[in-house]
Amino acid sequence: MGSQALRADFDFEEEDRFFISGVEQVGRSRNTYEHQLRKRKWVVGALVAVGSLGLVALILGLAWGLSRRKLDYDCPHNYDASSADLVFYVIGDWGRGGNANQQATARLMADVSQCMPPKFIISTGDNFYPNGLSSATDPQFAQSFTNVYTAPGLQVPWYAVMGNHDYGDSIDKATLSSCLAAPTSLEECAGKCCISPFWQTDPQLAARDRRWNATRGNVVTRSFPLGPPLGDPASGNGSGTSSGSKGTLDILFMDTVPFIRQYNSRNWASFLYGFKNQSTDAIRNQLEQQLNASYNSGSKWRLVVGHHPIRSYGSHCSQYDSYDCLDMAFVAPYLREYRVAAYINGHDHDQQLIKPADDPLYYVVTGAGSDTRAGEFDGLDPEVRSRDALFLSDKQGFVAVVMAGDTMRLHYYTTGQSTPTYTRLVPLPTWSP
Ligand SMILES: *[C@@H]1O[C@H](CO)[C@@H](O)[C@H](O)[C@H]1NC(C)=O
Ligand SMILES: *[C@@H]1O[C@H](CO)[C@@H](O)[C@H](O)[C@H]1NC(C)=O
Ligand SMILES: *[C@@H]1O[C@H](CO)[C@@H](O)[C@H](O)[C@H]1NC(C)=O
Ligand SMILES: *[C@@H]1O[C@H](CO)[C@@H](O)[C@H](O)[C@H]1NC(C)=O
Repeated sequence: MGSQALRADFDFEEEDRFFISGVEQVGRSRNTYEHQLRKRKWVVGALVAVGSLGLVALILGLAWGLSRRKLDYDCPHNYDASSADLVFYVIGDWGRGGNANQQATARLMADVSQCMPPKFIISTGDNFYPNGLSSATDPQFAQSFTNVYTAPGLQVPWYAVMGNHDYGDSIDKATLSSCLAAPTSLEECAGKCCISPFWQTDPQLAARDRRWNATRGNVVTRSFPLGPPLGDPASGNGSGTSSGSKGTLDILFMDTVPFIRQYNSRNWASFLYGFKNQSTDAIRNQLEQQLNASYNSGSKWRLVVGHHPIRSYGSHCSQYDSYDCLDMAFVAPYLREYRVAAYINGHDHDQQLIKPADDPLYYVVTGAGSDTRAGEFDGLDPEVRSRDALFLSDKQGFVAVVMAGDTMRLHYYTTGQSTPTYTRLVPLPTWSP
């Protein structure tokens, strides 16, 4: 509120200055013409005055236009850049060639990045619809990623996990018949259409756009130092790397697709490096071991990111179909044991924050990067909803996360609104595991 008012005042001063200099110019011009061309002084004077006024109007118009642009976004009133130890964004379920409001969500991220620039962006999966990439040179990578998130503030690492669509879910008959159905090696795929989640972790893909950094078929821990940045990120020094004086945030990126049992019977389950190629035991062990290692290392914060929800009021869990949350339930005890602050996922095309009273965990759902399911929560019993759903939205958007001291602020953004639709302060976990 305060900074918005300040900006508006400043713009008025700018406009005043332009106006005054325009008047001075009119006066000067008139004096010159009085001495040299008395007869035509009024005609010329009037022409100059009209011309100058036109110039003034043009400048005023430009200044007004610029001031409008500046006011497209607002920083949240509780955001203080000097006390933020780390800022990152989370988006999910997005890659649709810029269609289905993907562009609108990208513009919202671009706007917000002007006041809260992220150090990195997390994708909760379903990166490329409808059925992932068919090679490391698939043009969809540019159409859905490179050419969409073009704003300067979004040129940071993107850490992605896989979703079911990245494994080939929803492949249509035509694609199925024109691509290799059951290649047994990557060599067989060379130069051919070959749907596989492998391409998203192929270094060739990251070479096409340096931001891209995906994980597949495993759990990967990434550690982020917290504290004031070293050097100036704008000049490229250290990419804004923090000093680490405020501790470390460990984020564990987990492939959850192999745990969803209903995928076992799908026609894409046996694609190269597909569902049937994964070892759920290996991934579960990695999760436990890496959480344990992070906990013992003294890292201050832990978060776990996967595609599928553990808790959700969206269509993939409690409401209409399916058993996705049941298949994911085994994860929650590990999160409690190793003091994880929140589990973050996509899959449901909406945004939610769930915090059960008898559970220390926060469940963050953000899968609203393009197409969403309008009216998704309409049928929900208000009593069920009020039990533990802090926020439910069926609109497009993303979450901006601000770590500061012993707090983590979740800012839920939705399209059509330049301030967060919902903000929640999550405290540093202190319960005894
Ligand atoms: C991906 O991120 C990890 C850090 O988590 C880094 O070590 C690796 O080099 C990155 N890969 C690419 C292709 O940028
Ligand atoms: C980058 O920042 C660090 C820490 O402030 C400083 O030591 C280093 O000299 C800087 N490097 C460049 C190339 O500016
Ligand atoms: C996955 O596929 C690769 C390549 O065919 C193979 O080397 C690996 O053993 C498979 N892993 C599992 C768990 O099936
Ligand atoms: C956790 O790590 C500690 C220290 O390395 C080790 O002693 C313990 O066995 C580990 N626990 C599990 C469940 O892996």
